[in-house]
Amino acid sequence: MDRIDYDASLLALGVDSLGVASITAELEEETNTTLNPDVVFDLETINELVDYLQSVSALPARQTDPSAADAETPRLPDVPVQDGLPTAEPGGCESDGLIQHYGRLNRRVESLKEQGLYFFEPEISVHDGAWVVADGKRMLMLGSYEYLGLLGHPHLKNTAIAAIKEFGTGHHGVRLLAGTTTIHRKLEAKLAAFMRAEDSVVFSSGYVTNLATLSSLVGRGDCVIGDQWNHASIVDGCRMSGAEFLEFKHNCMDSLAESLEKAAGRRTLVVVDAVFSMDGDIVDLPAVVELCRKHQALLMVDEAHSLGVLGKTGRGIQEHFDLEPDAIDVKMGTLSKTLAGCGGFIAARNEITTYLRHHARGYIFSGALPAGQASVAIAALEVLEREPELVERLRENAGYYLRGLKTLGFDTAQSVTPIVPVMTRNDEITLEMTRICRSEGLLVIPVVYPAVPIDAPRLRTCVSAIHSRENIDFALDVLARAGRQTKLIA
Ligand SMILES: Cc1ncc(COP(=O)(O)O)c(C=O)c1O
Repeated sequence: MDRIDYDASLLALGVDSLGVASITAELEEETNTTLNPDVVFDLETINELVDYLQSVSALPARQTDPSAADAETPRLPDVPVQDGLPTAEPGGCESDGLIQHYGRLNRRVESLKEQGLYFFEPEISVHDGAWVVADGKRMLMLGSYEYLGLLGHPHLKNTAIAAIKEFGTGHHGVRLLAGTTTIHRKLEAKLAAFMRAEDSVVFSSGYVTNLATLSSLVGRGDCVIGDQWNHASIVDGCRMSGAEFLEFKHNCMDSLAESLEKAAGRRTLVVVDAVFSMDGDIVDLPAVVELCRKHQALLMVDEAHSLGVLGKTGRGIQEHFDLEPDAIDVKMGTLSKTLAGCGGFIAARNEITTYLRHHARGYIFSGALPAGQASVAIAALEVLEREPELVERLRENAGYYLRGLKTLGFDTAQSVTPIVPVMTRNDEITLEMTRICRSEGLLVIPVVYPAVPIDAPRLRTCVSAIHSRENIDFALDVLARAGRQTKLIA
């Protein structure tokens, strides 16, 4: 506050039209008045805004005596300017220090590379059904979120090629300006129908969807409550929102109820993952819905790992628990997992999607998802509608694989979905298991802190509908040998 110049233009202070809209809404609440948005948009400075507020509400008049105003109105400090740009104070801003800081953080990566234990970003040069060639070696893929095996599906590829031929590879800009095509409209209508919602809005990635949506659905003075195991994109969105952010114990309804009590009297959003991406367990949605209704909180559910996975026809967690269509207020999903493309979406009632289109910065200021990618998701939904048996095959594969691991004596935590962690609880064993599996032709993913708690490193494995029984038996065989060699199992 003490650095704000009340006579500087709002634009110079970094308040754009979205900022003006949200300030107007907050002022209306704070002063219990109705403001004319057209007048507010034309105001240039904070002092003009105060004058306007004073004219429409019972606010005390602002100080008009120029000498008193000078004494009381804080001014931005003078910044030394050279060639029109601010210059650094003597002593500099220590950009070298930043580079050294990155170097220190990179040391662990370098040490793992030196020991031959760096297993991130394997370079895939061939994709061939359930198999890939990664870092030059043919391996069975057991680390993909591509649940139904649609990544190489001819209908998806041909649809994308046709869309690229028609609309080109990119877009004409952001969605609100020139980036919307008939394909975007068709995808949004299809997603809304598939997710049993009134409308949907598509973003350029799942990560951006969570960031943009959460940071605009709630703000300062509100409360947002999330499961402590929620995906990083949810956590980042909650932090960015400026709302008070409360986390409840994983899937613990008493803990959620406690947080809701703390939030009493404030506008509150509860946000949970449907399926937790590192552990493969499912949120207790009926209980979450009941608590949200009781406390009148809005509910958002991230269906990244639920779409195409849960429910008889792959419609997600609401179908899984057989809940009514309006049980979830805001359904979030990605196009990058089951739907074998890229992008993210929100399916919800019209008030919410219209609001997001005009207030979510990650939608407004980021280039549209290219039409080719939007068309991939349409084609994937068509396959899913035509072949719901793919979801059943995925479920059978997941059950077979999970039972196999348990029989071998592996700890698979609370997984009940195709995401199956093989718990090692030790970084060295995690890396050694990964090395053995990959050398034997099985691509598994090591996950260590900070992606998971420090005492819970693991191999993250995922089965797909594309895996045959033979593939799964091969995976179990390799894991059994690696587990015995590292003494993880007897
Ligand atoms: C639960 C969850 N939400 C959101 C995302 C982000 O989606 P995307 O990868 O499409 O950006 C992920 C990605 O892994 C995820 O697991």
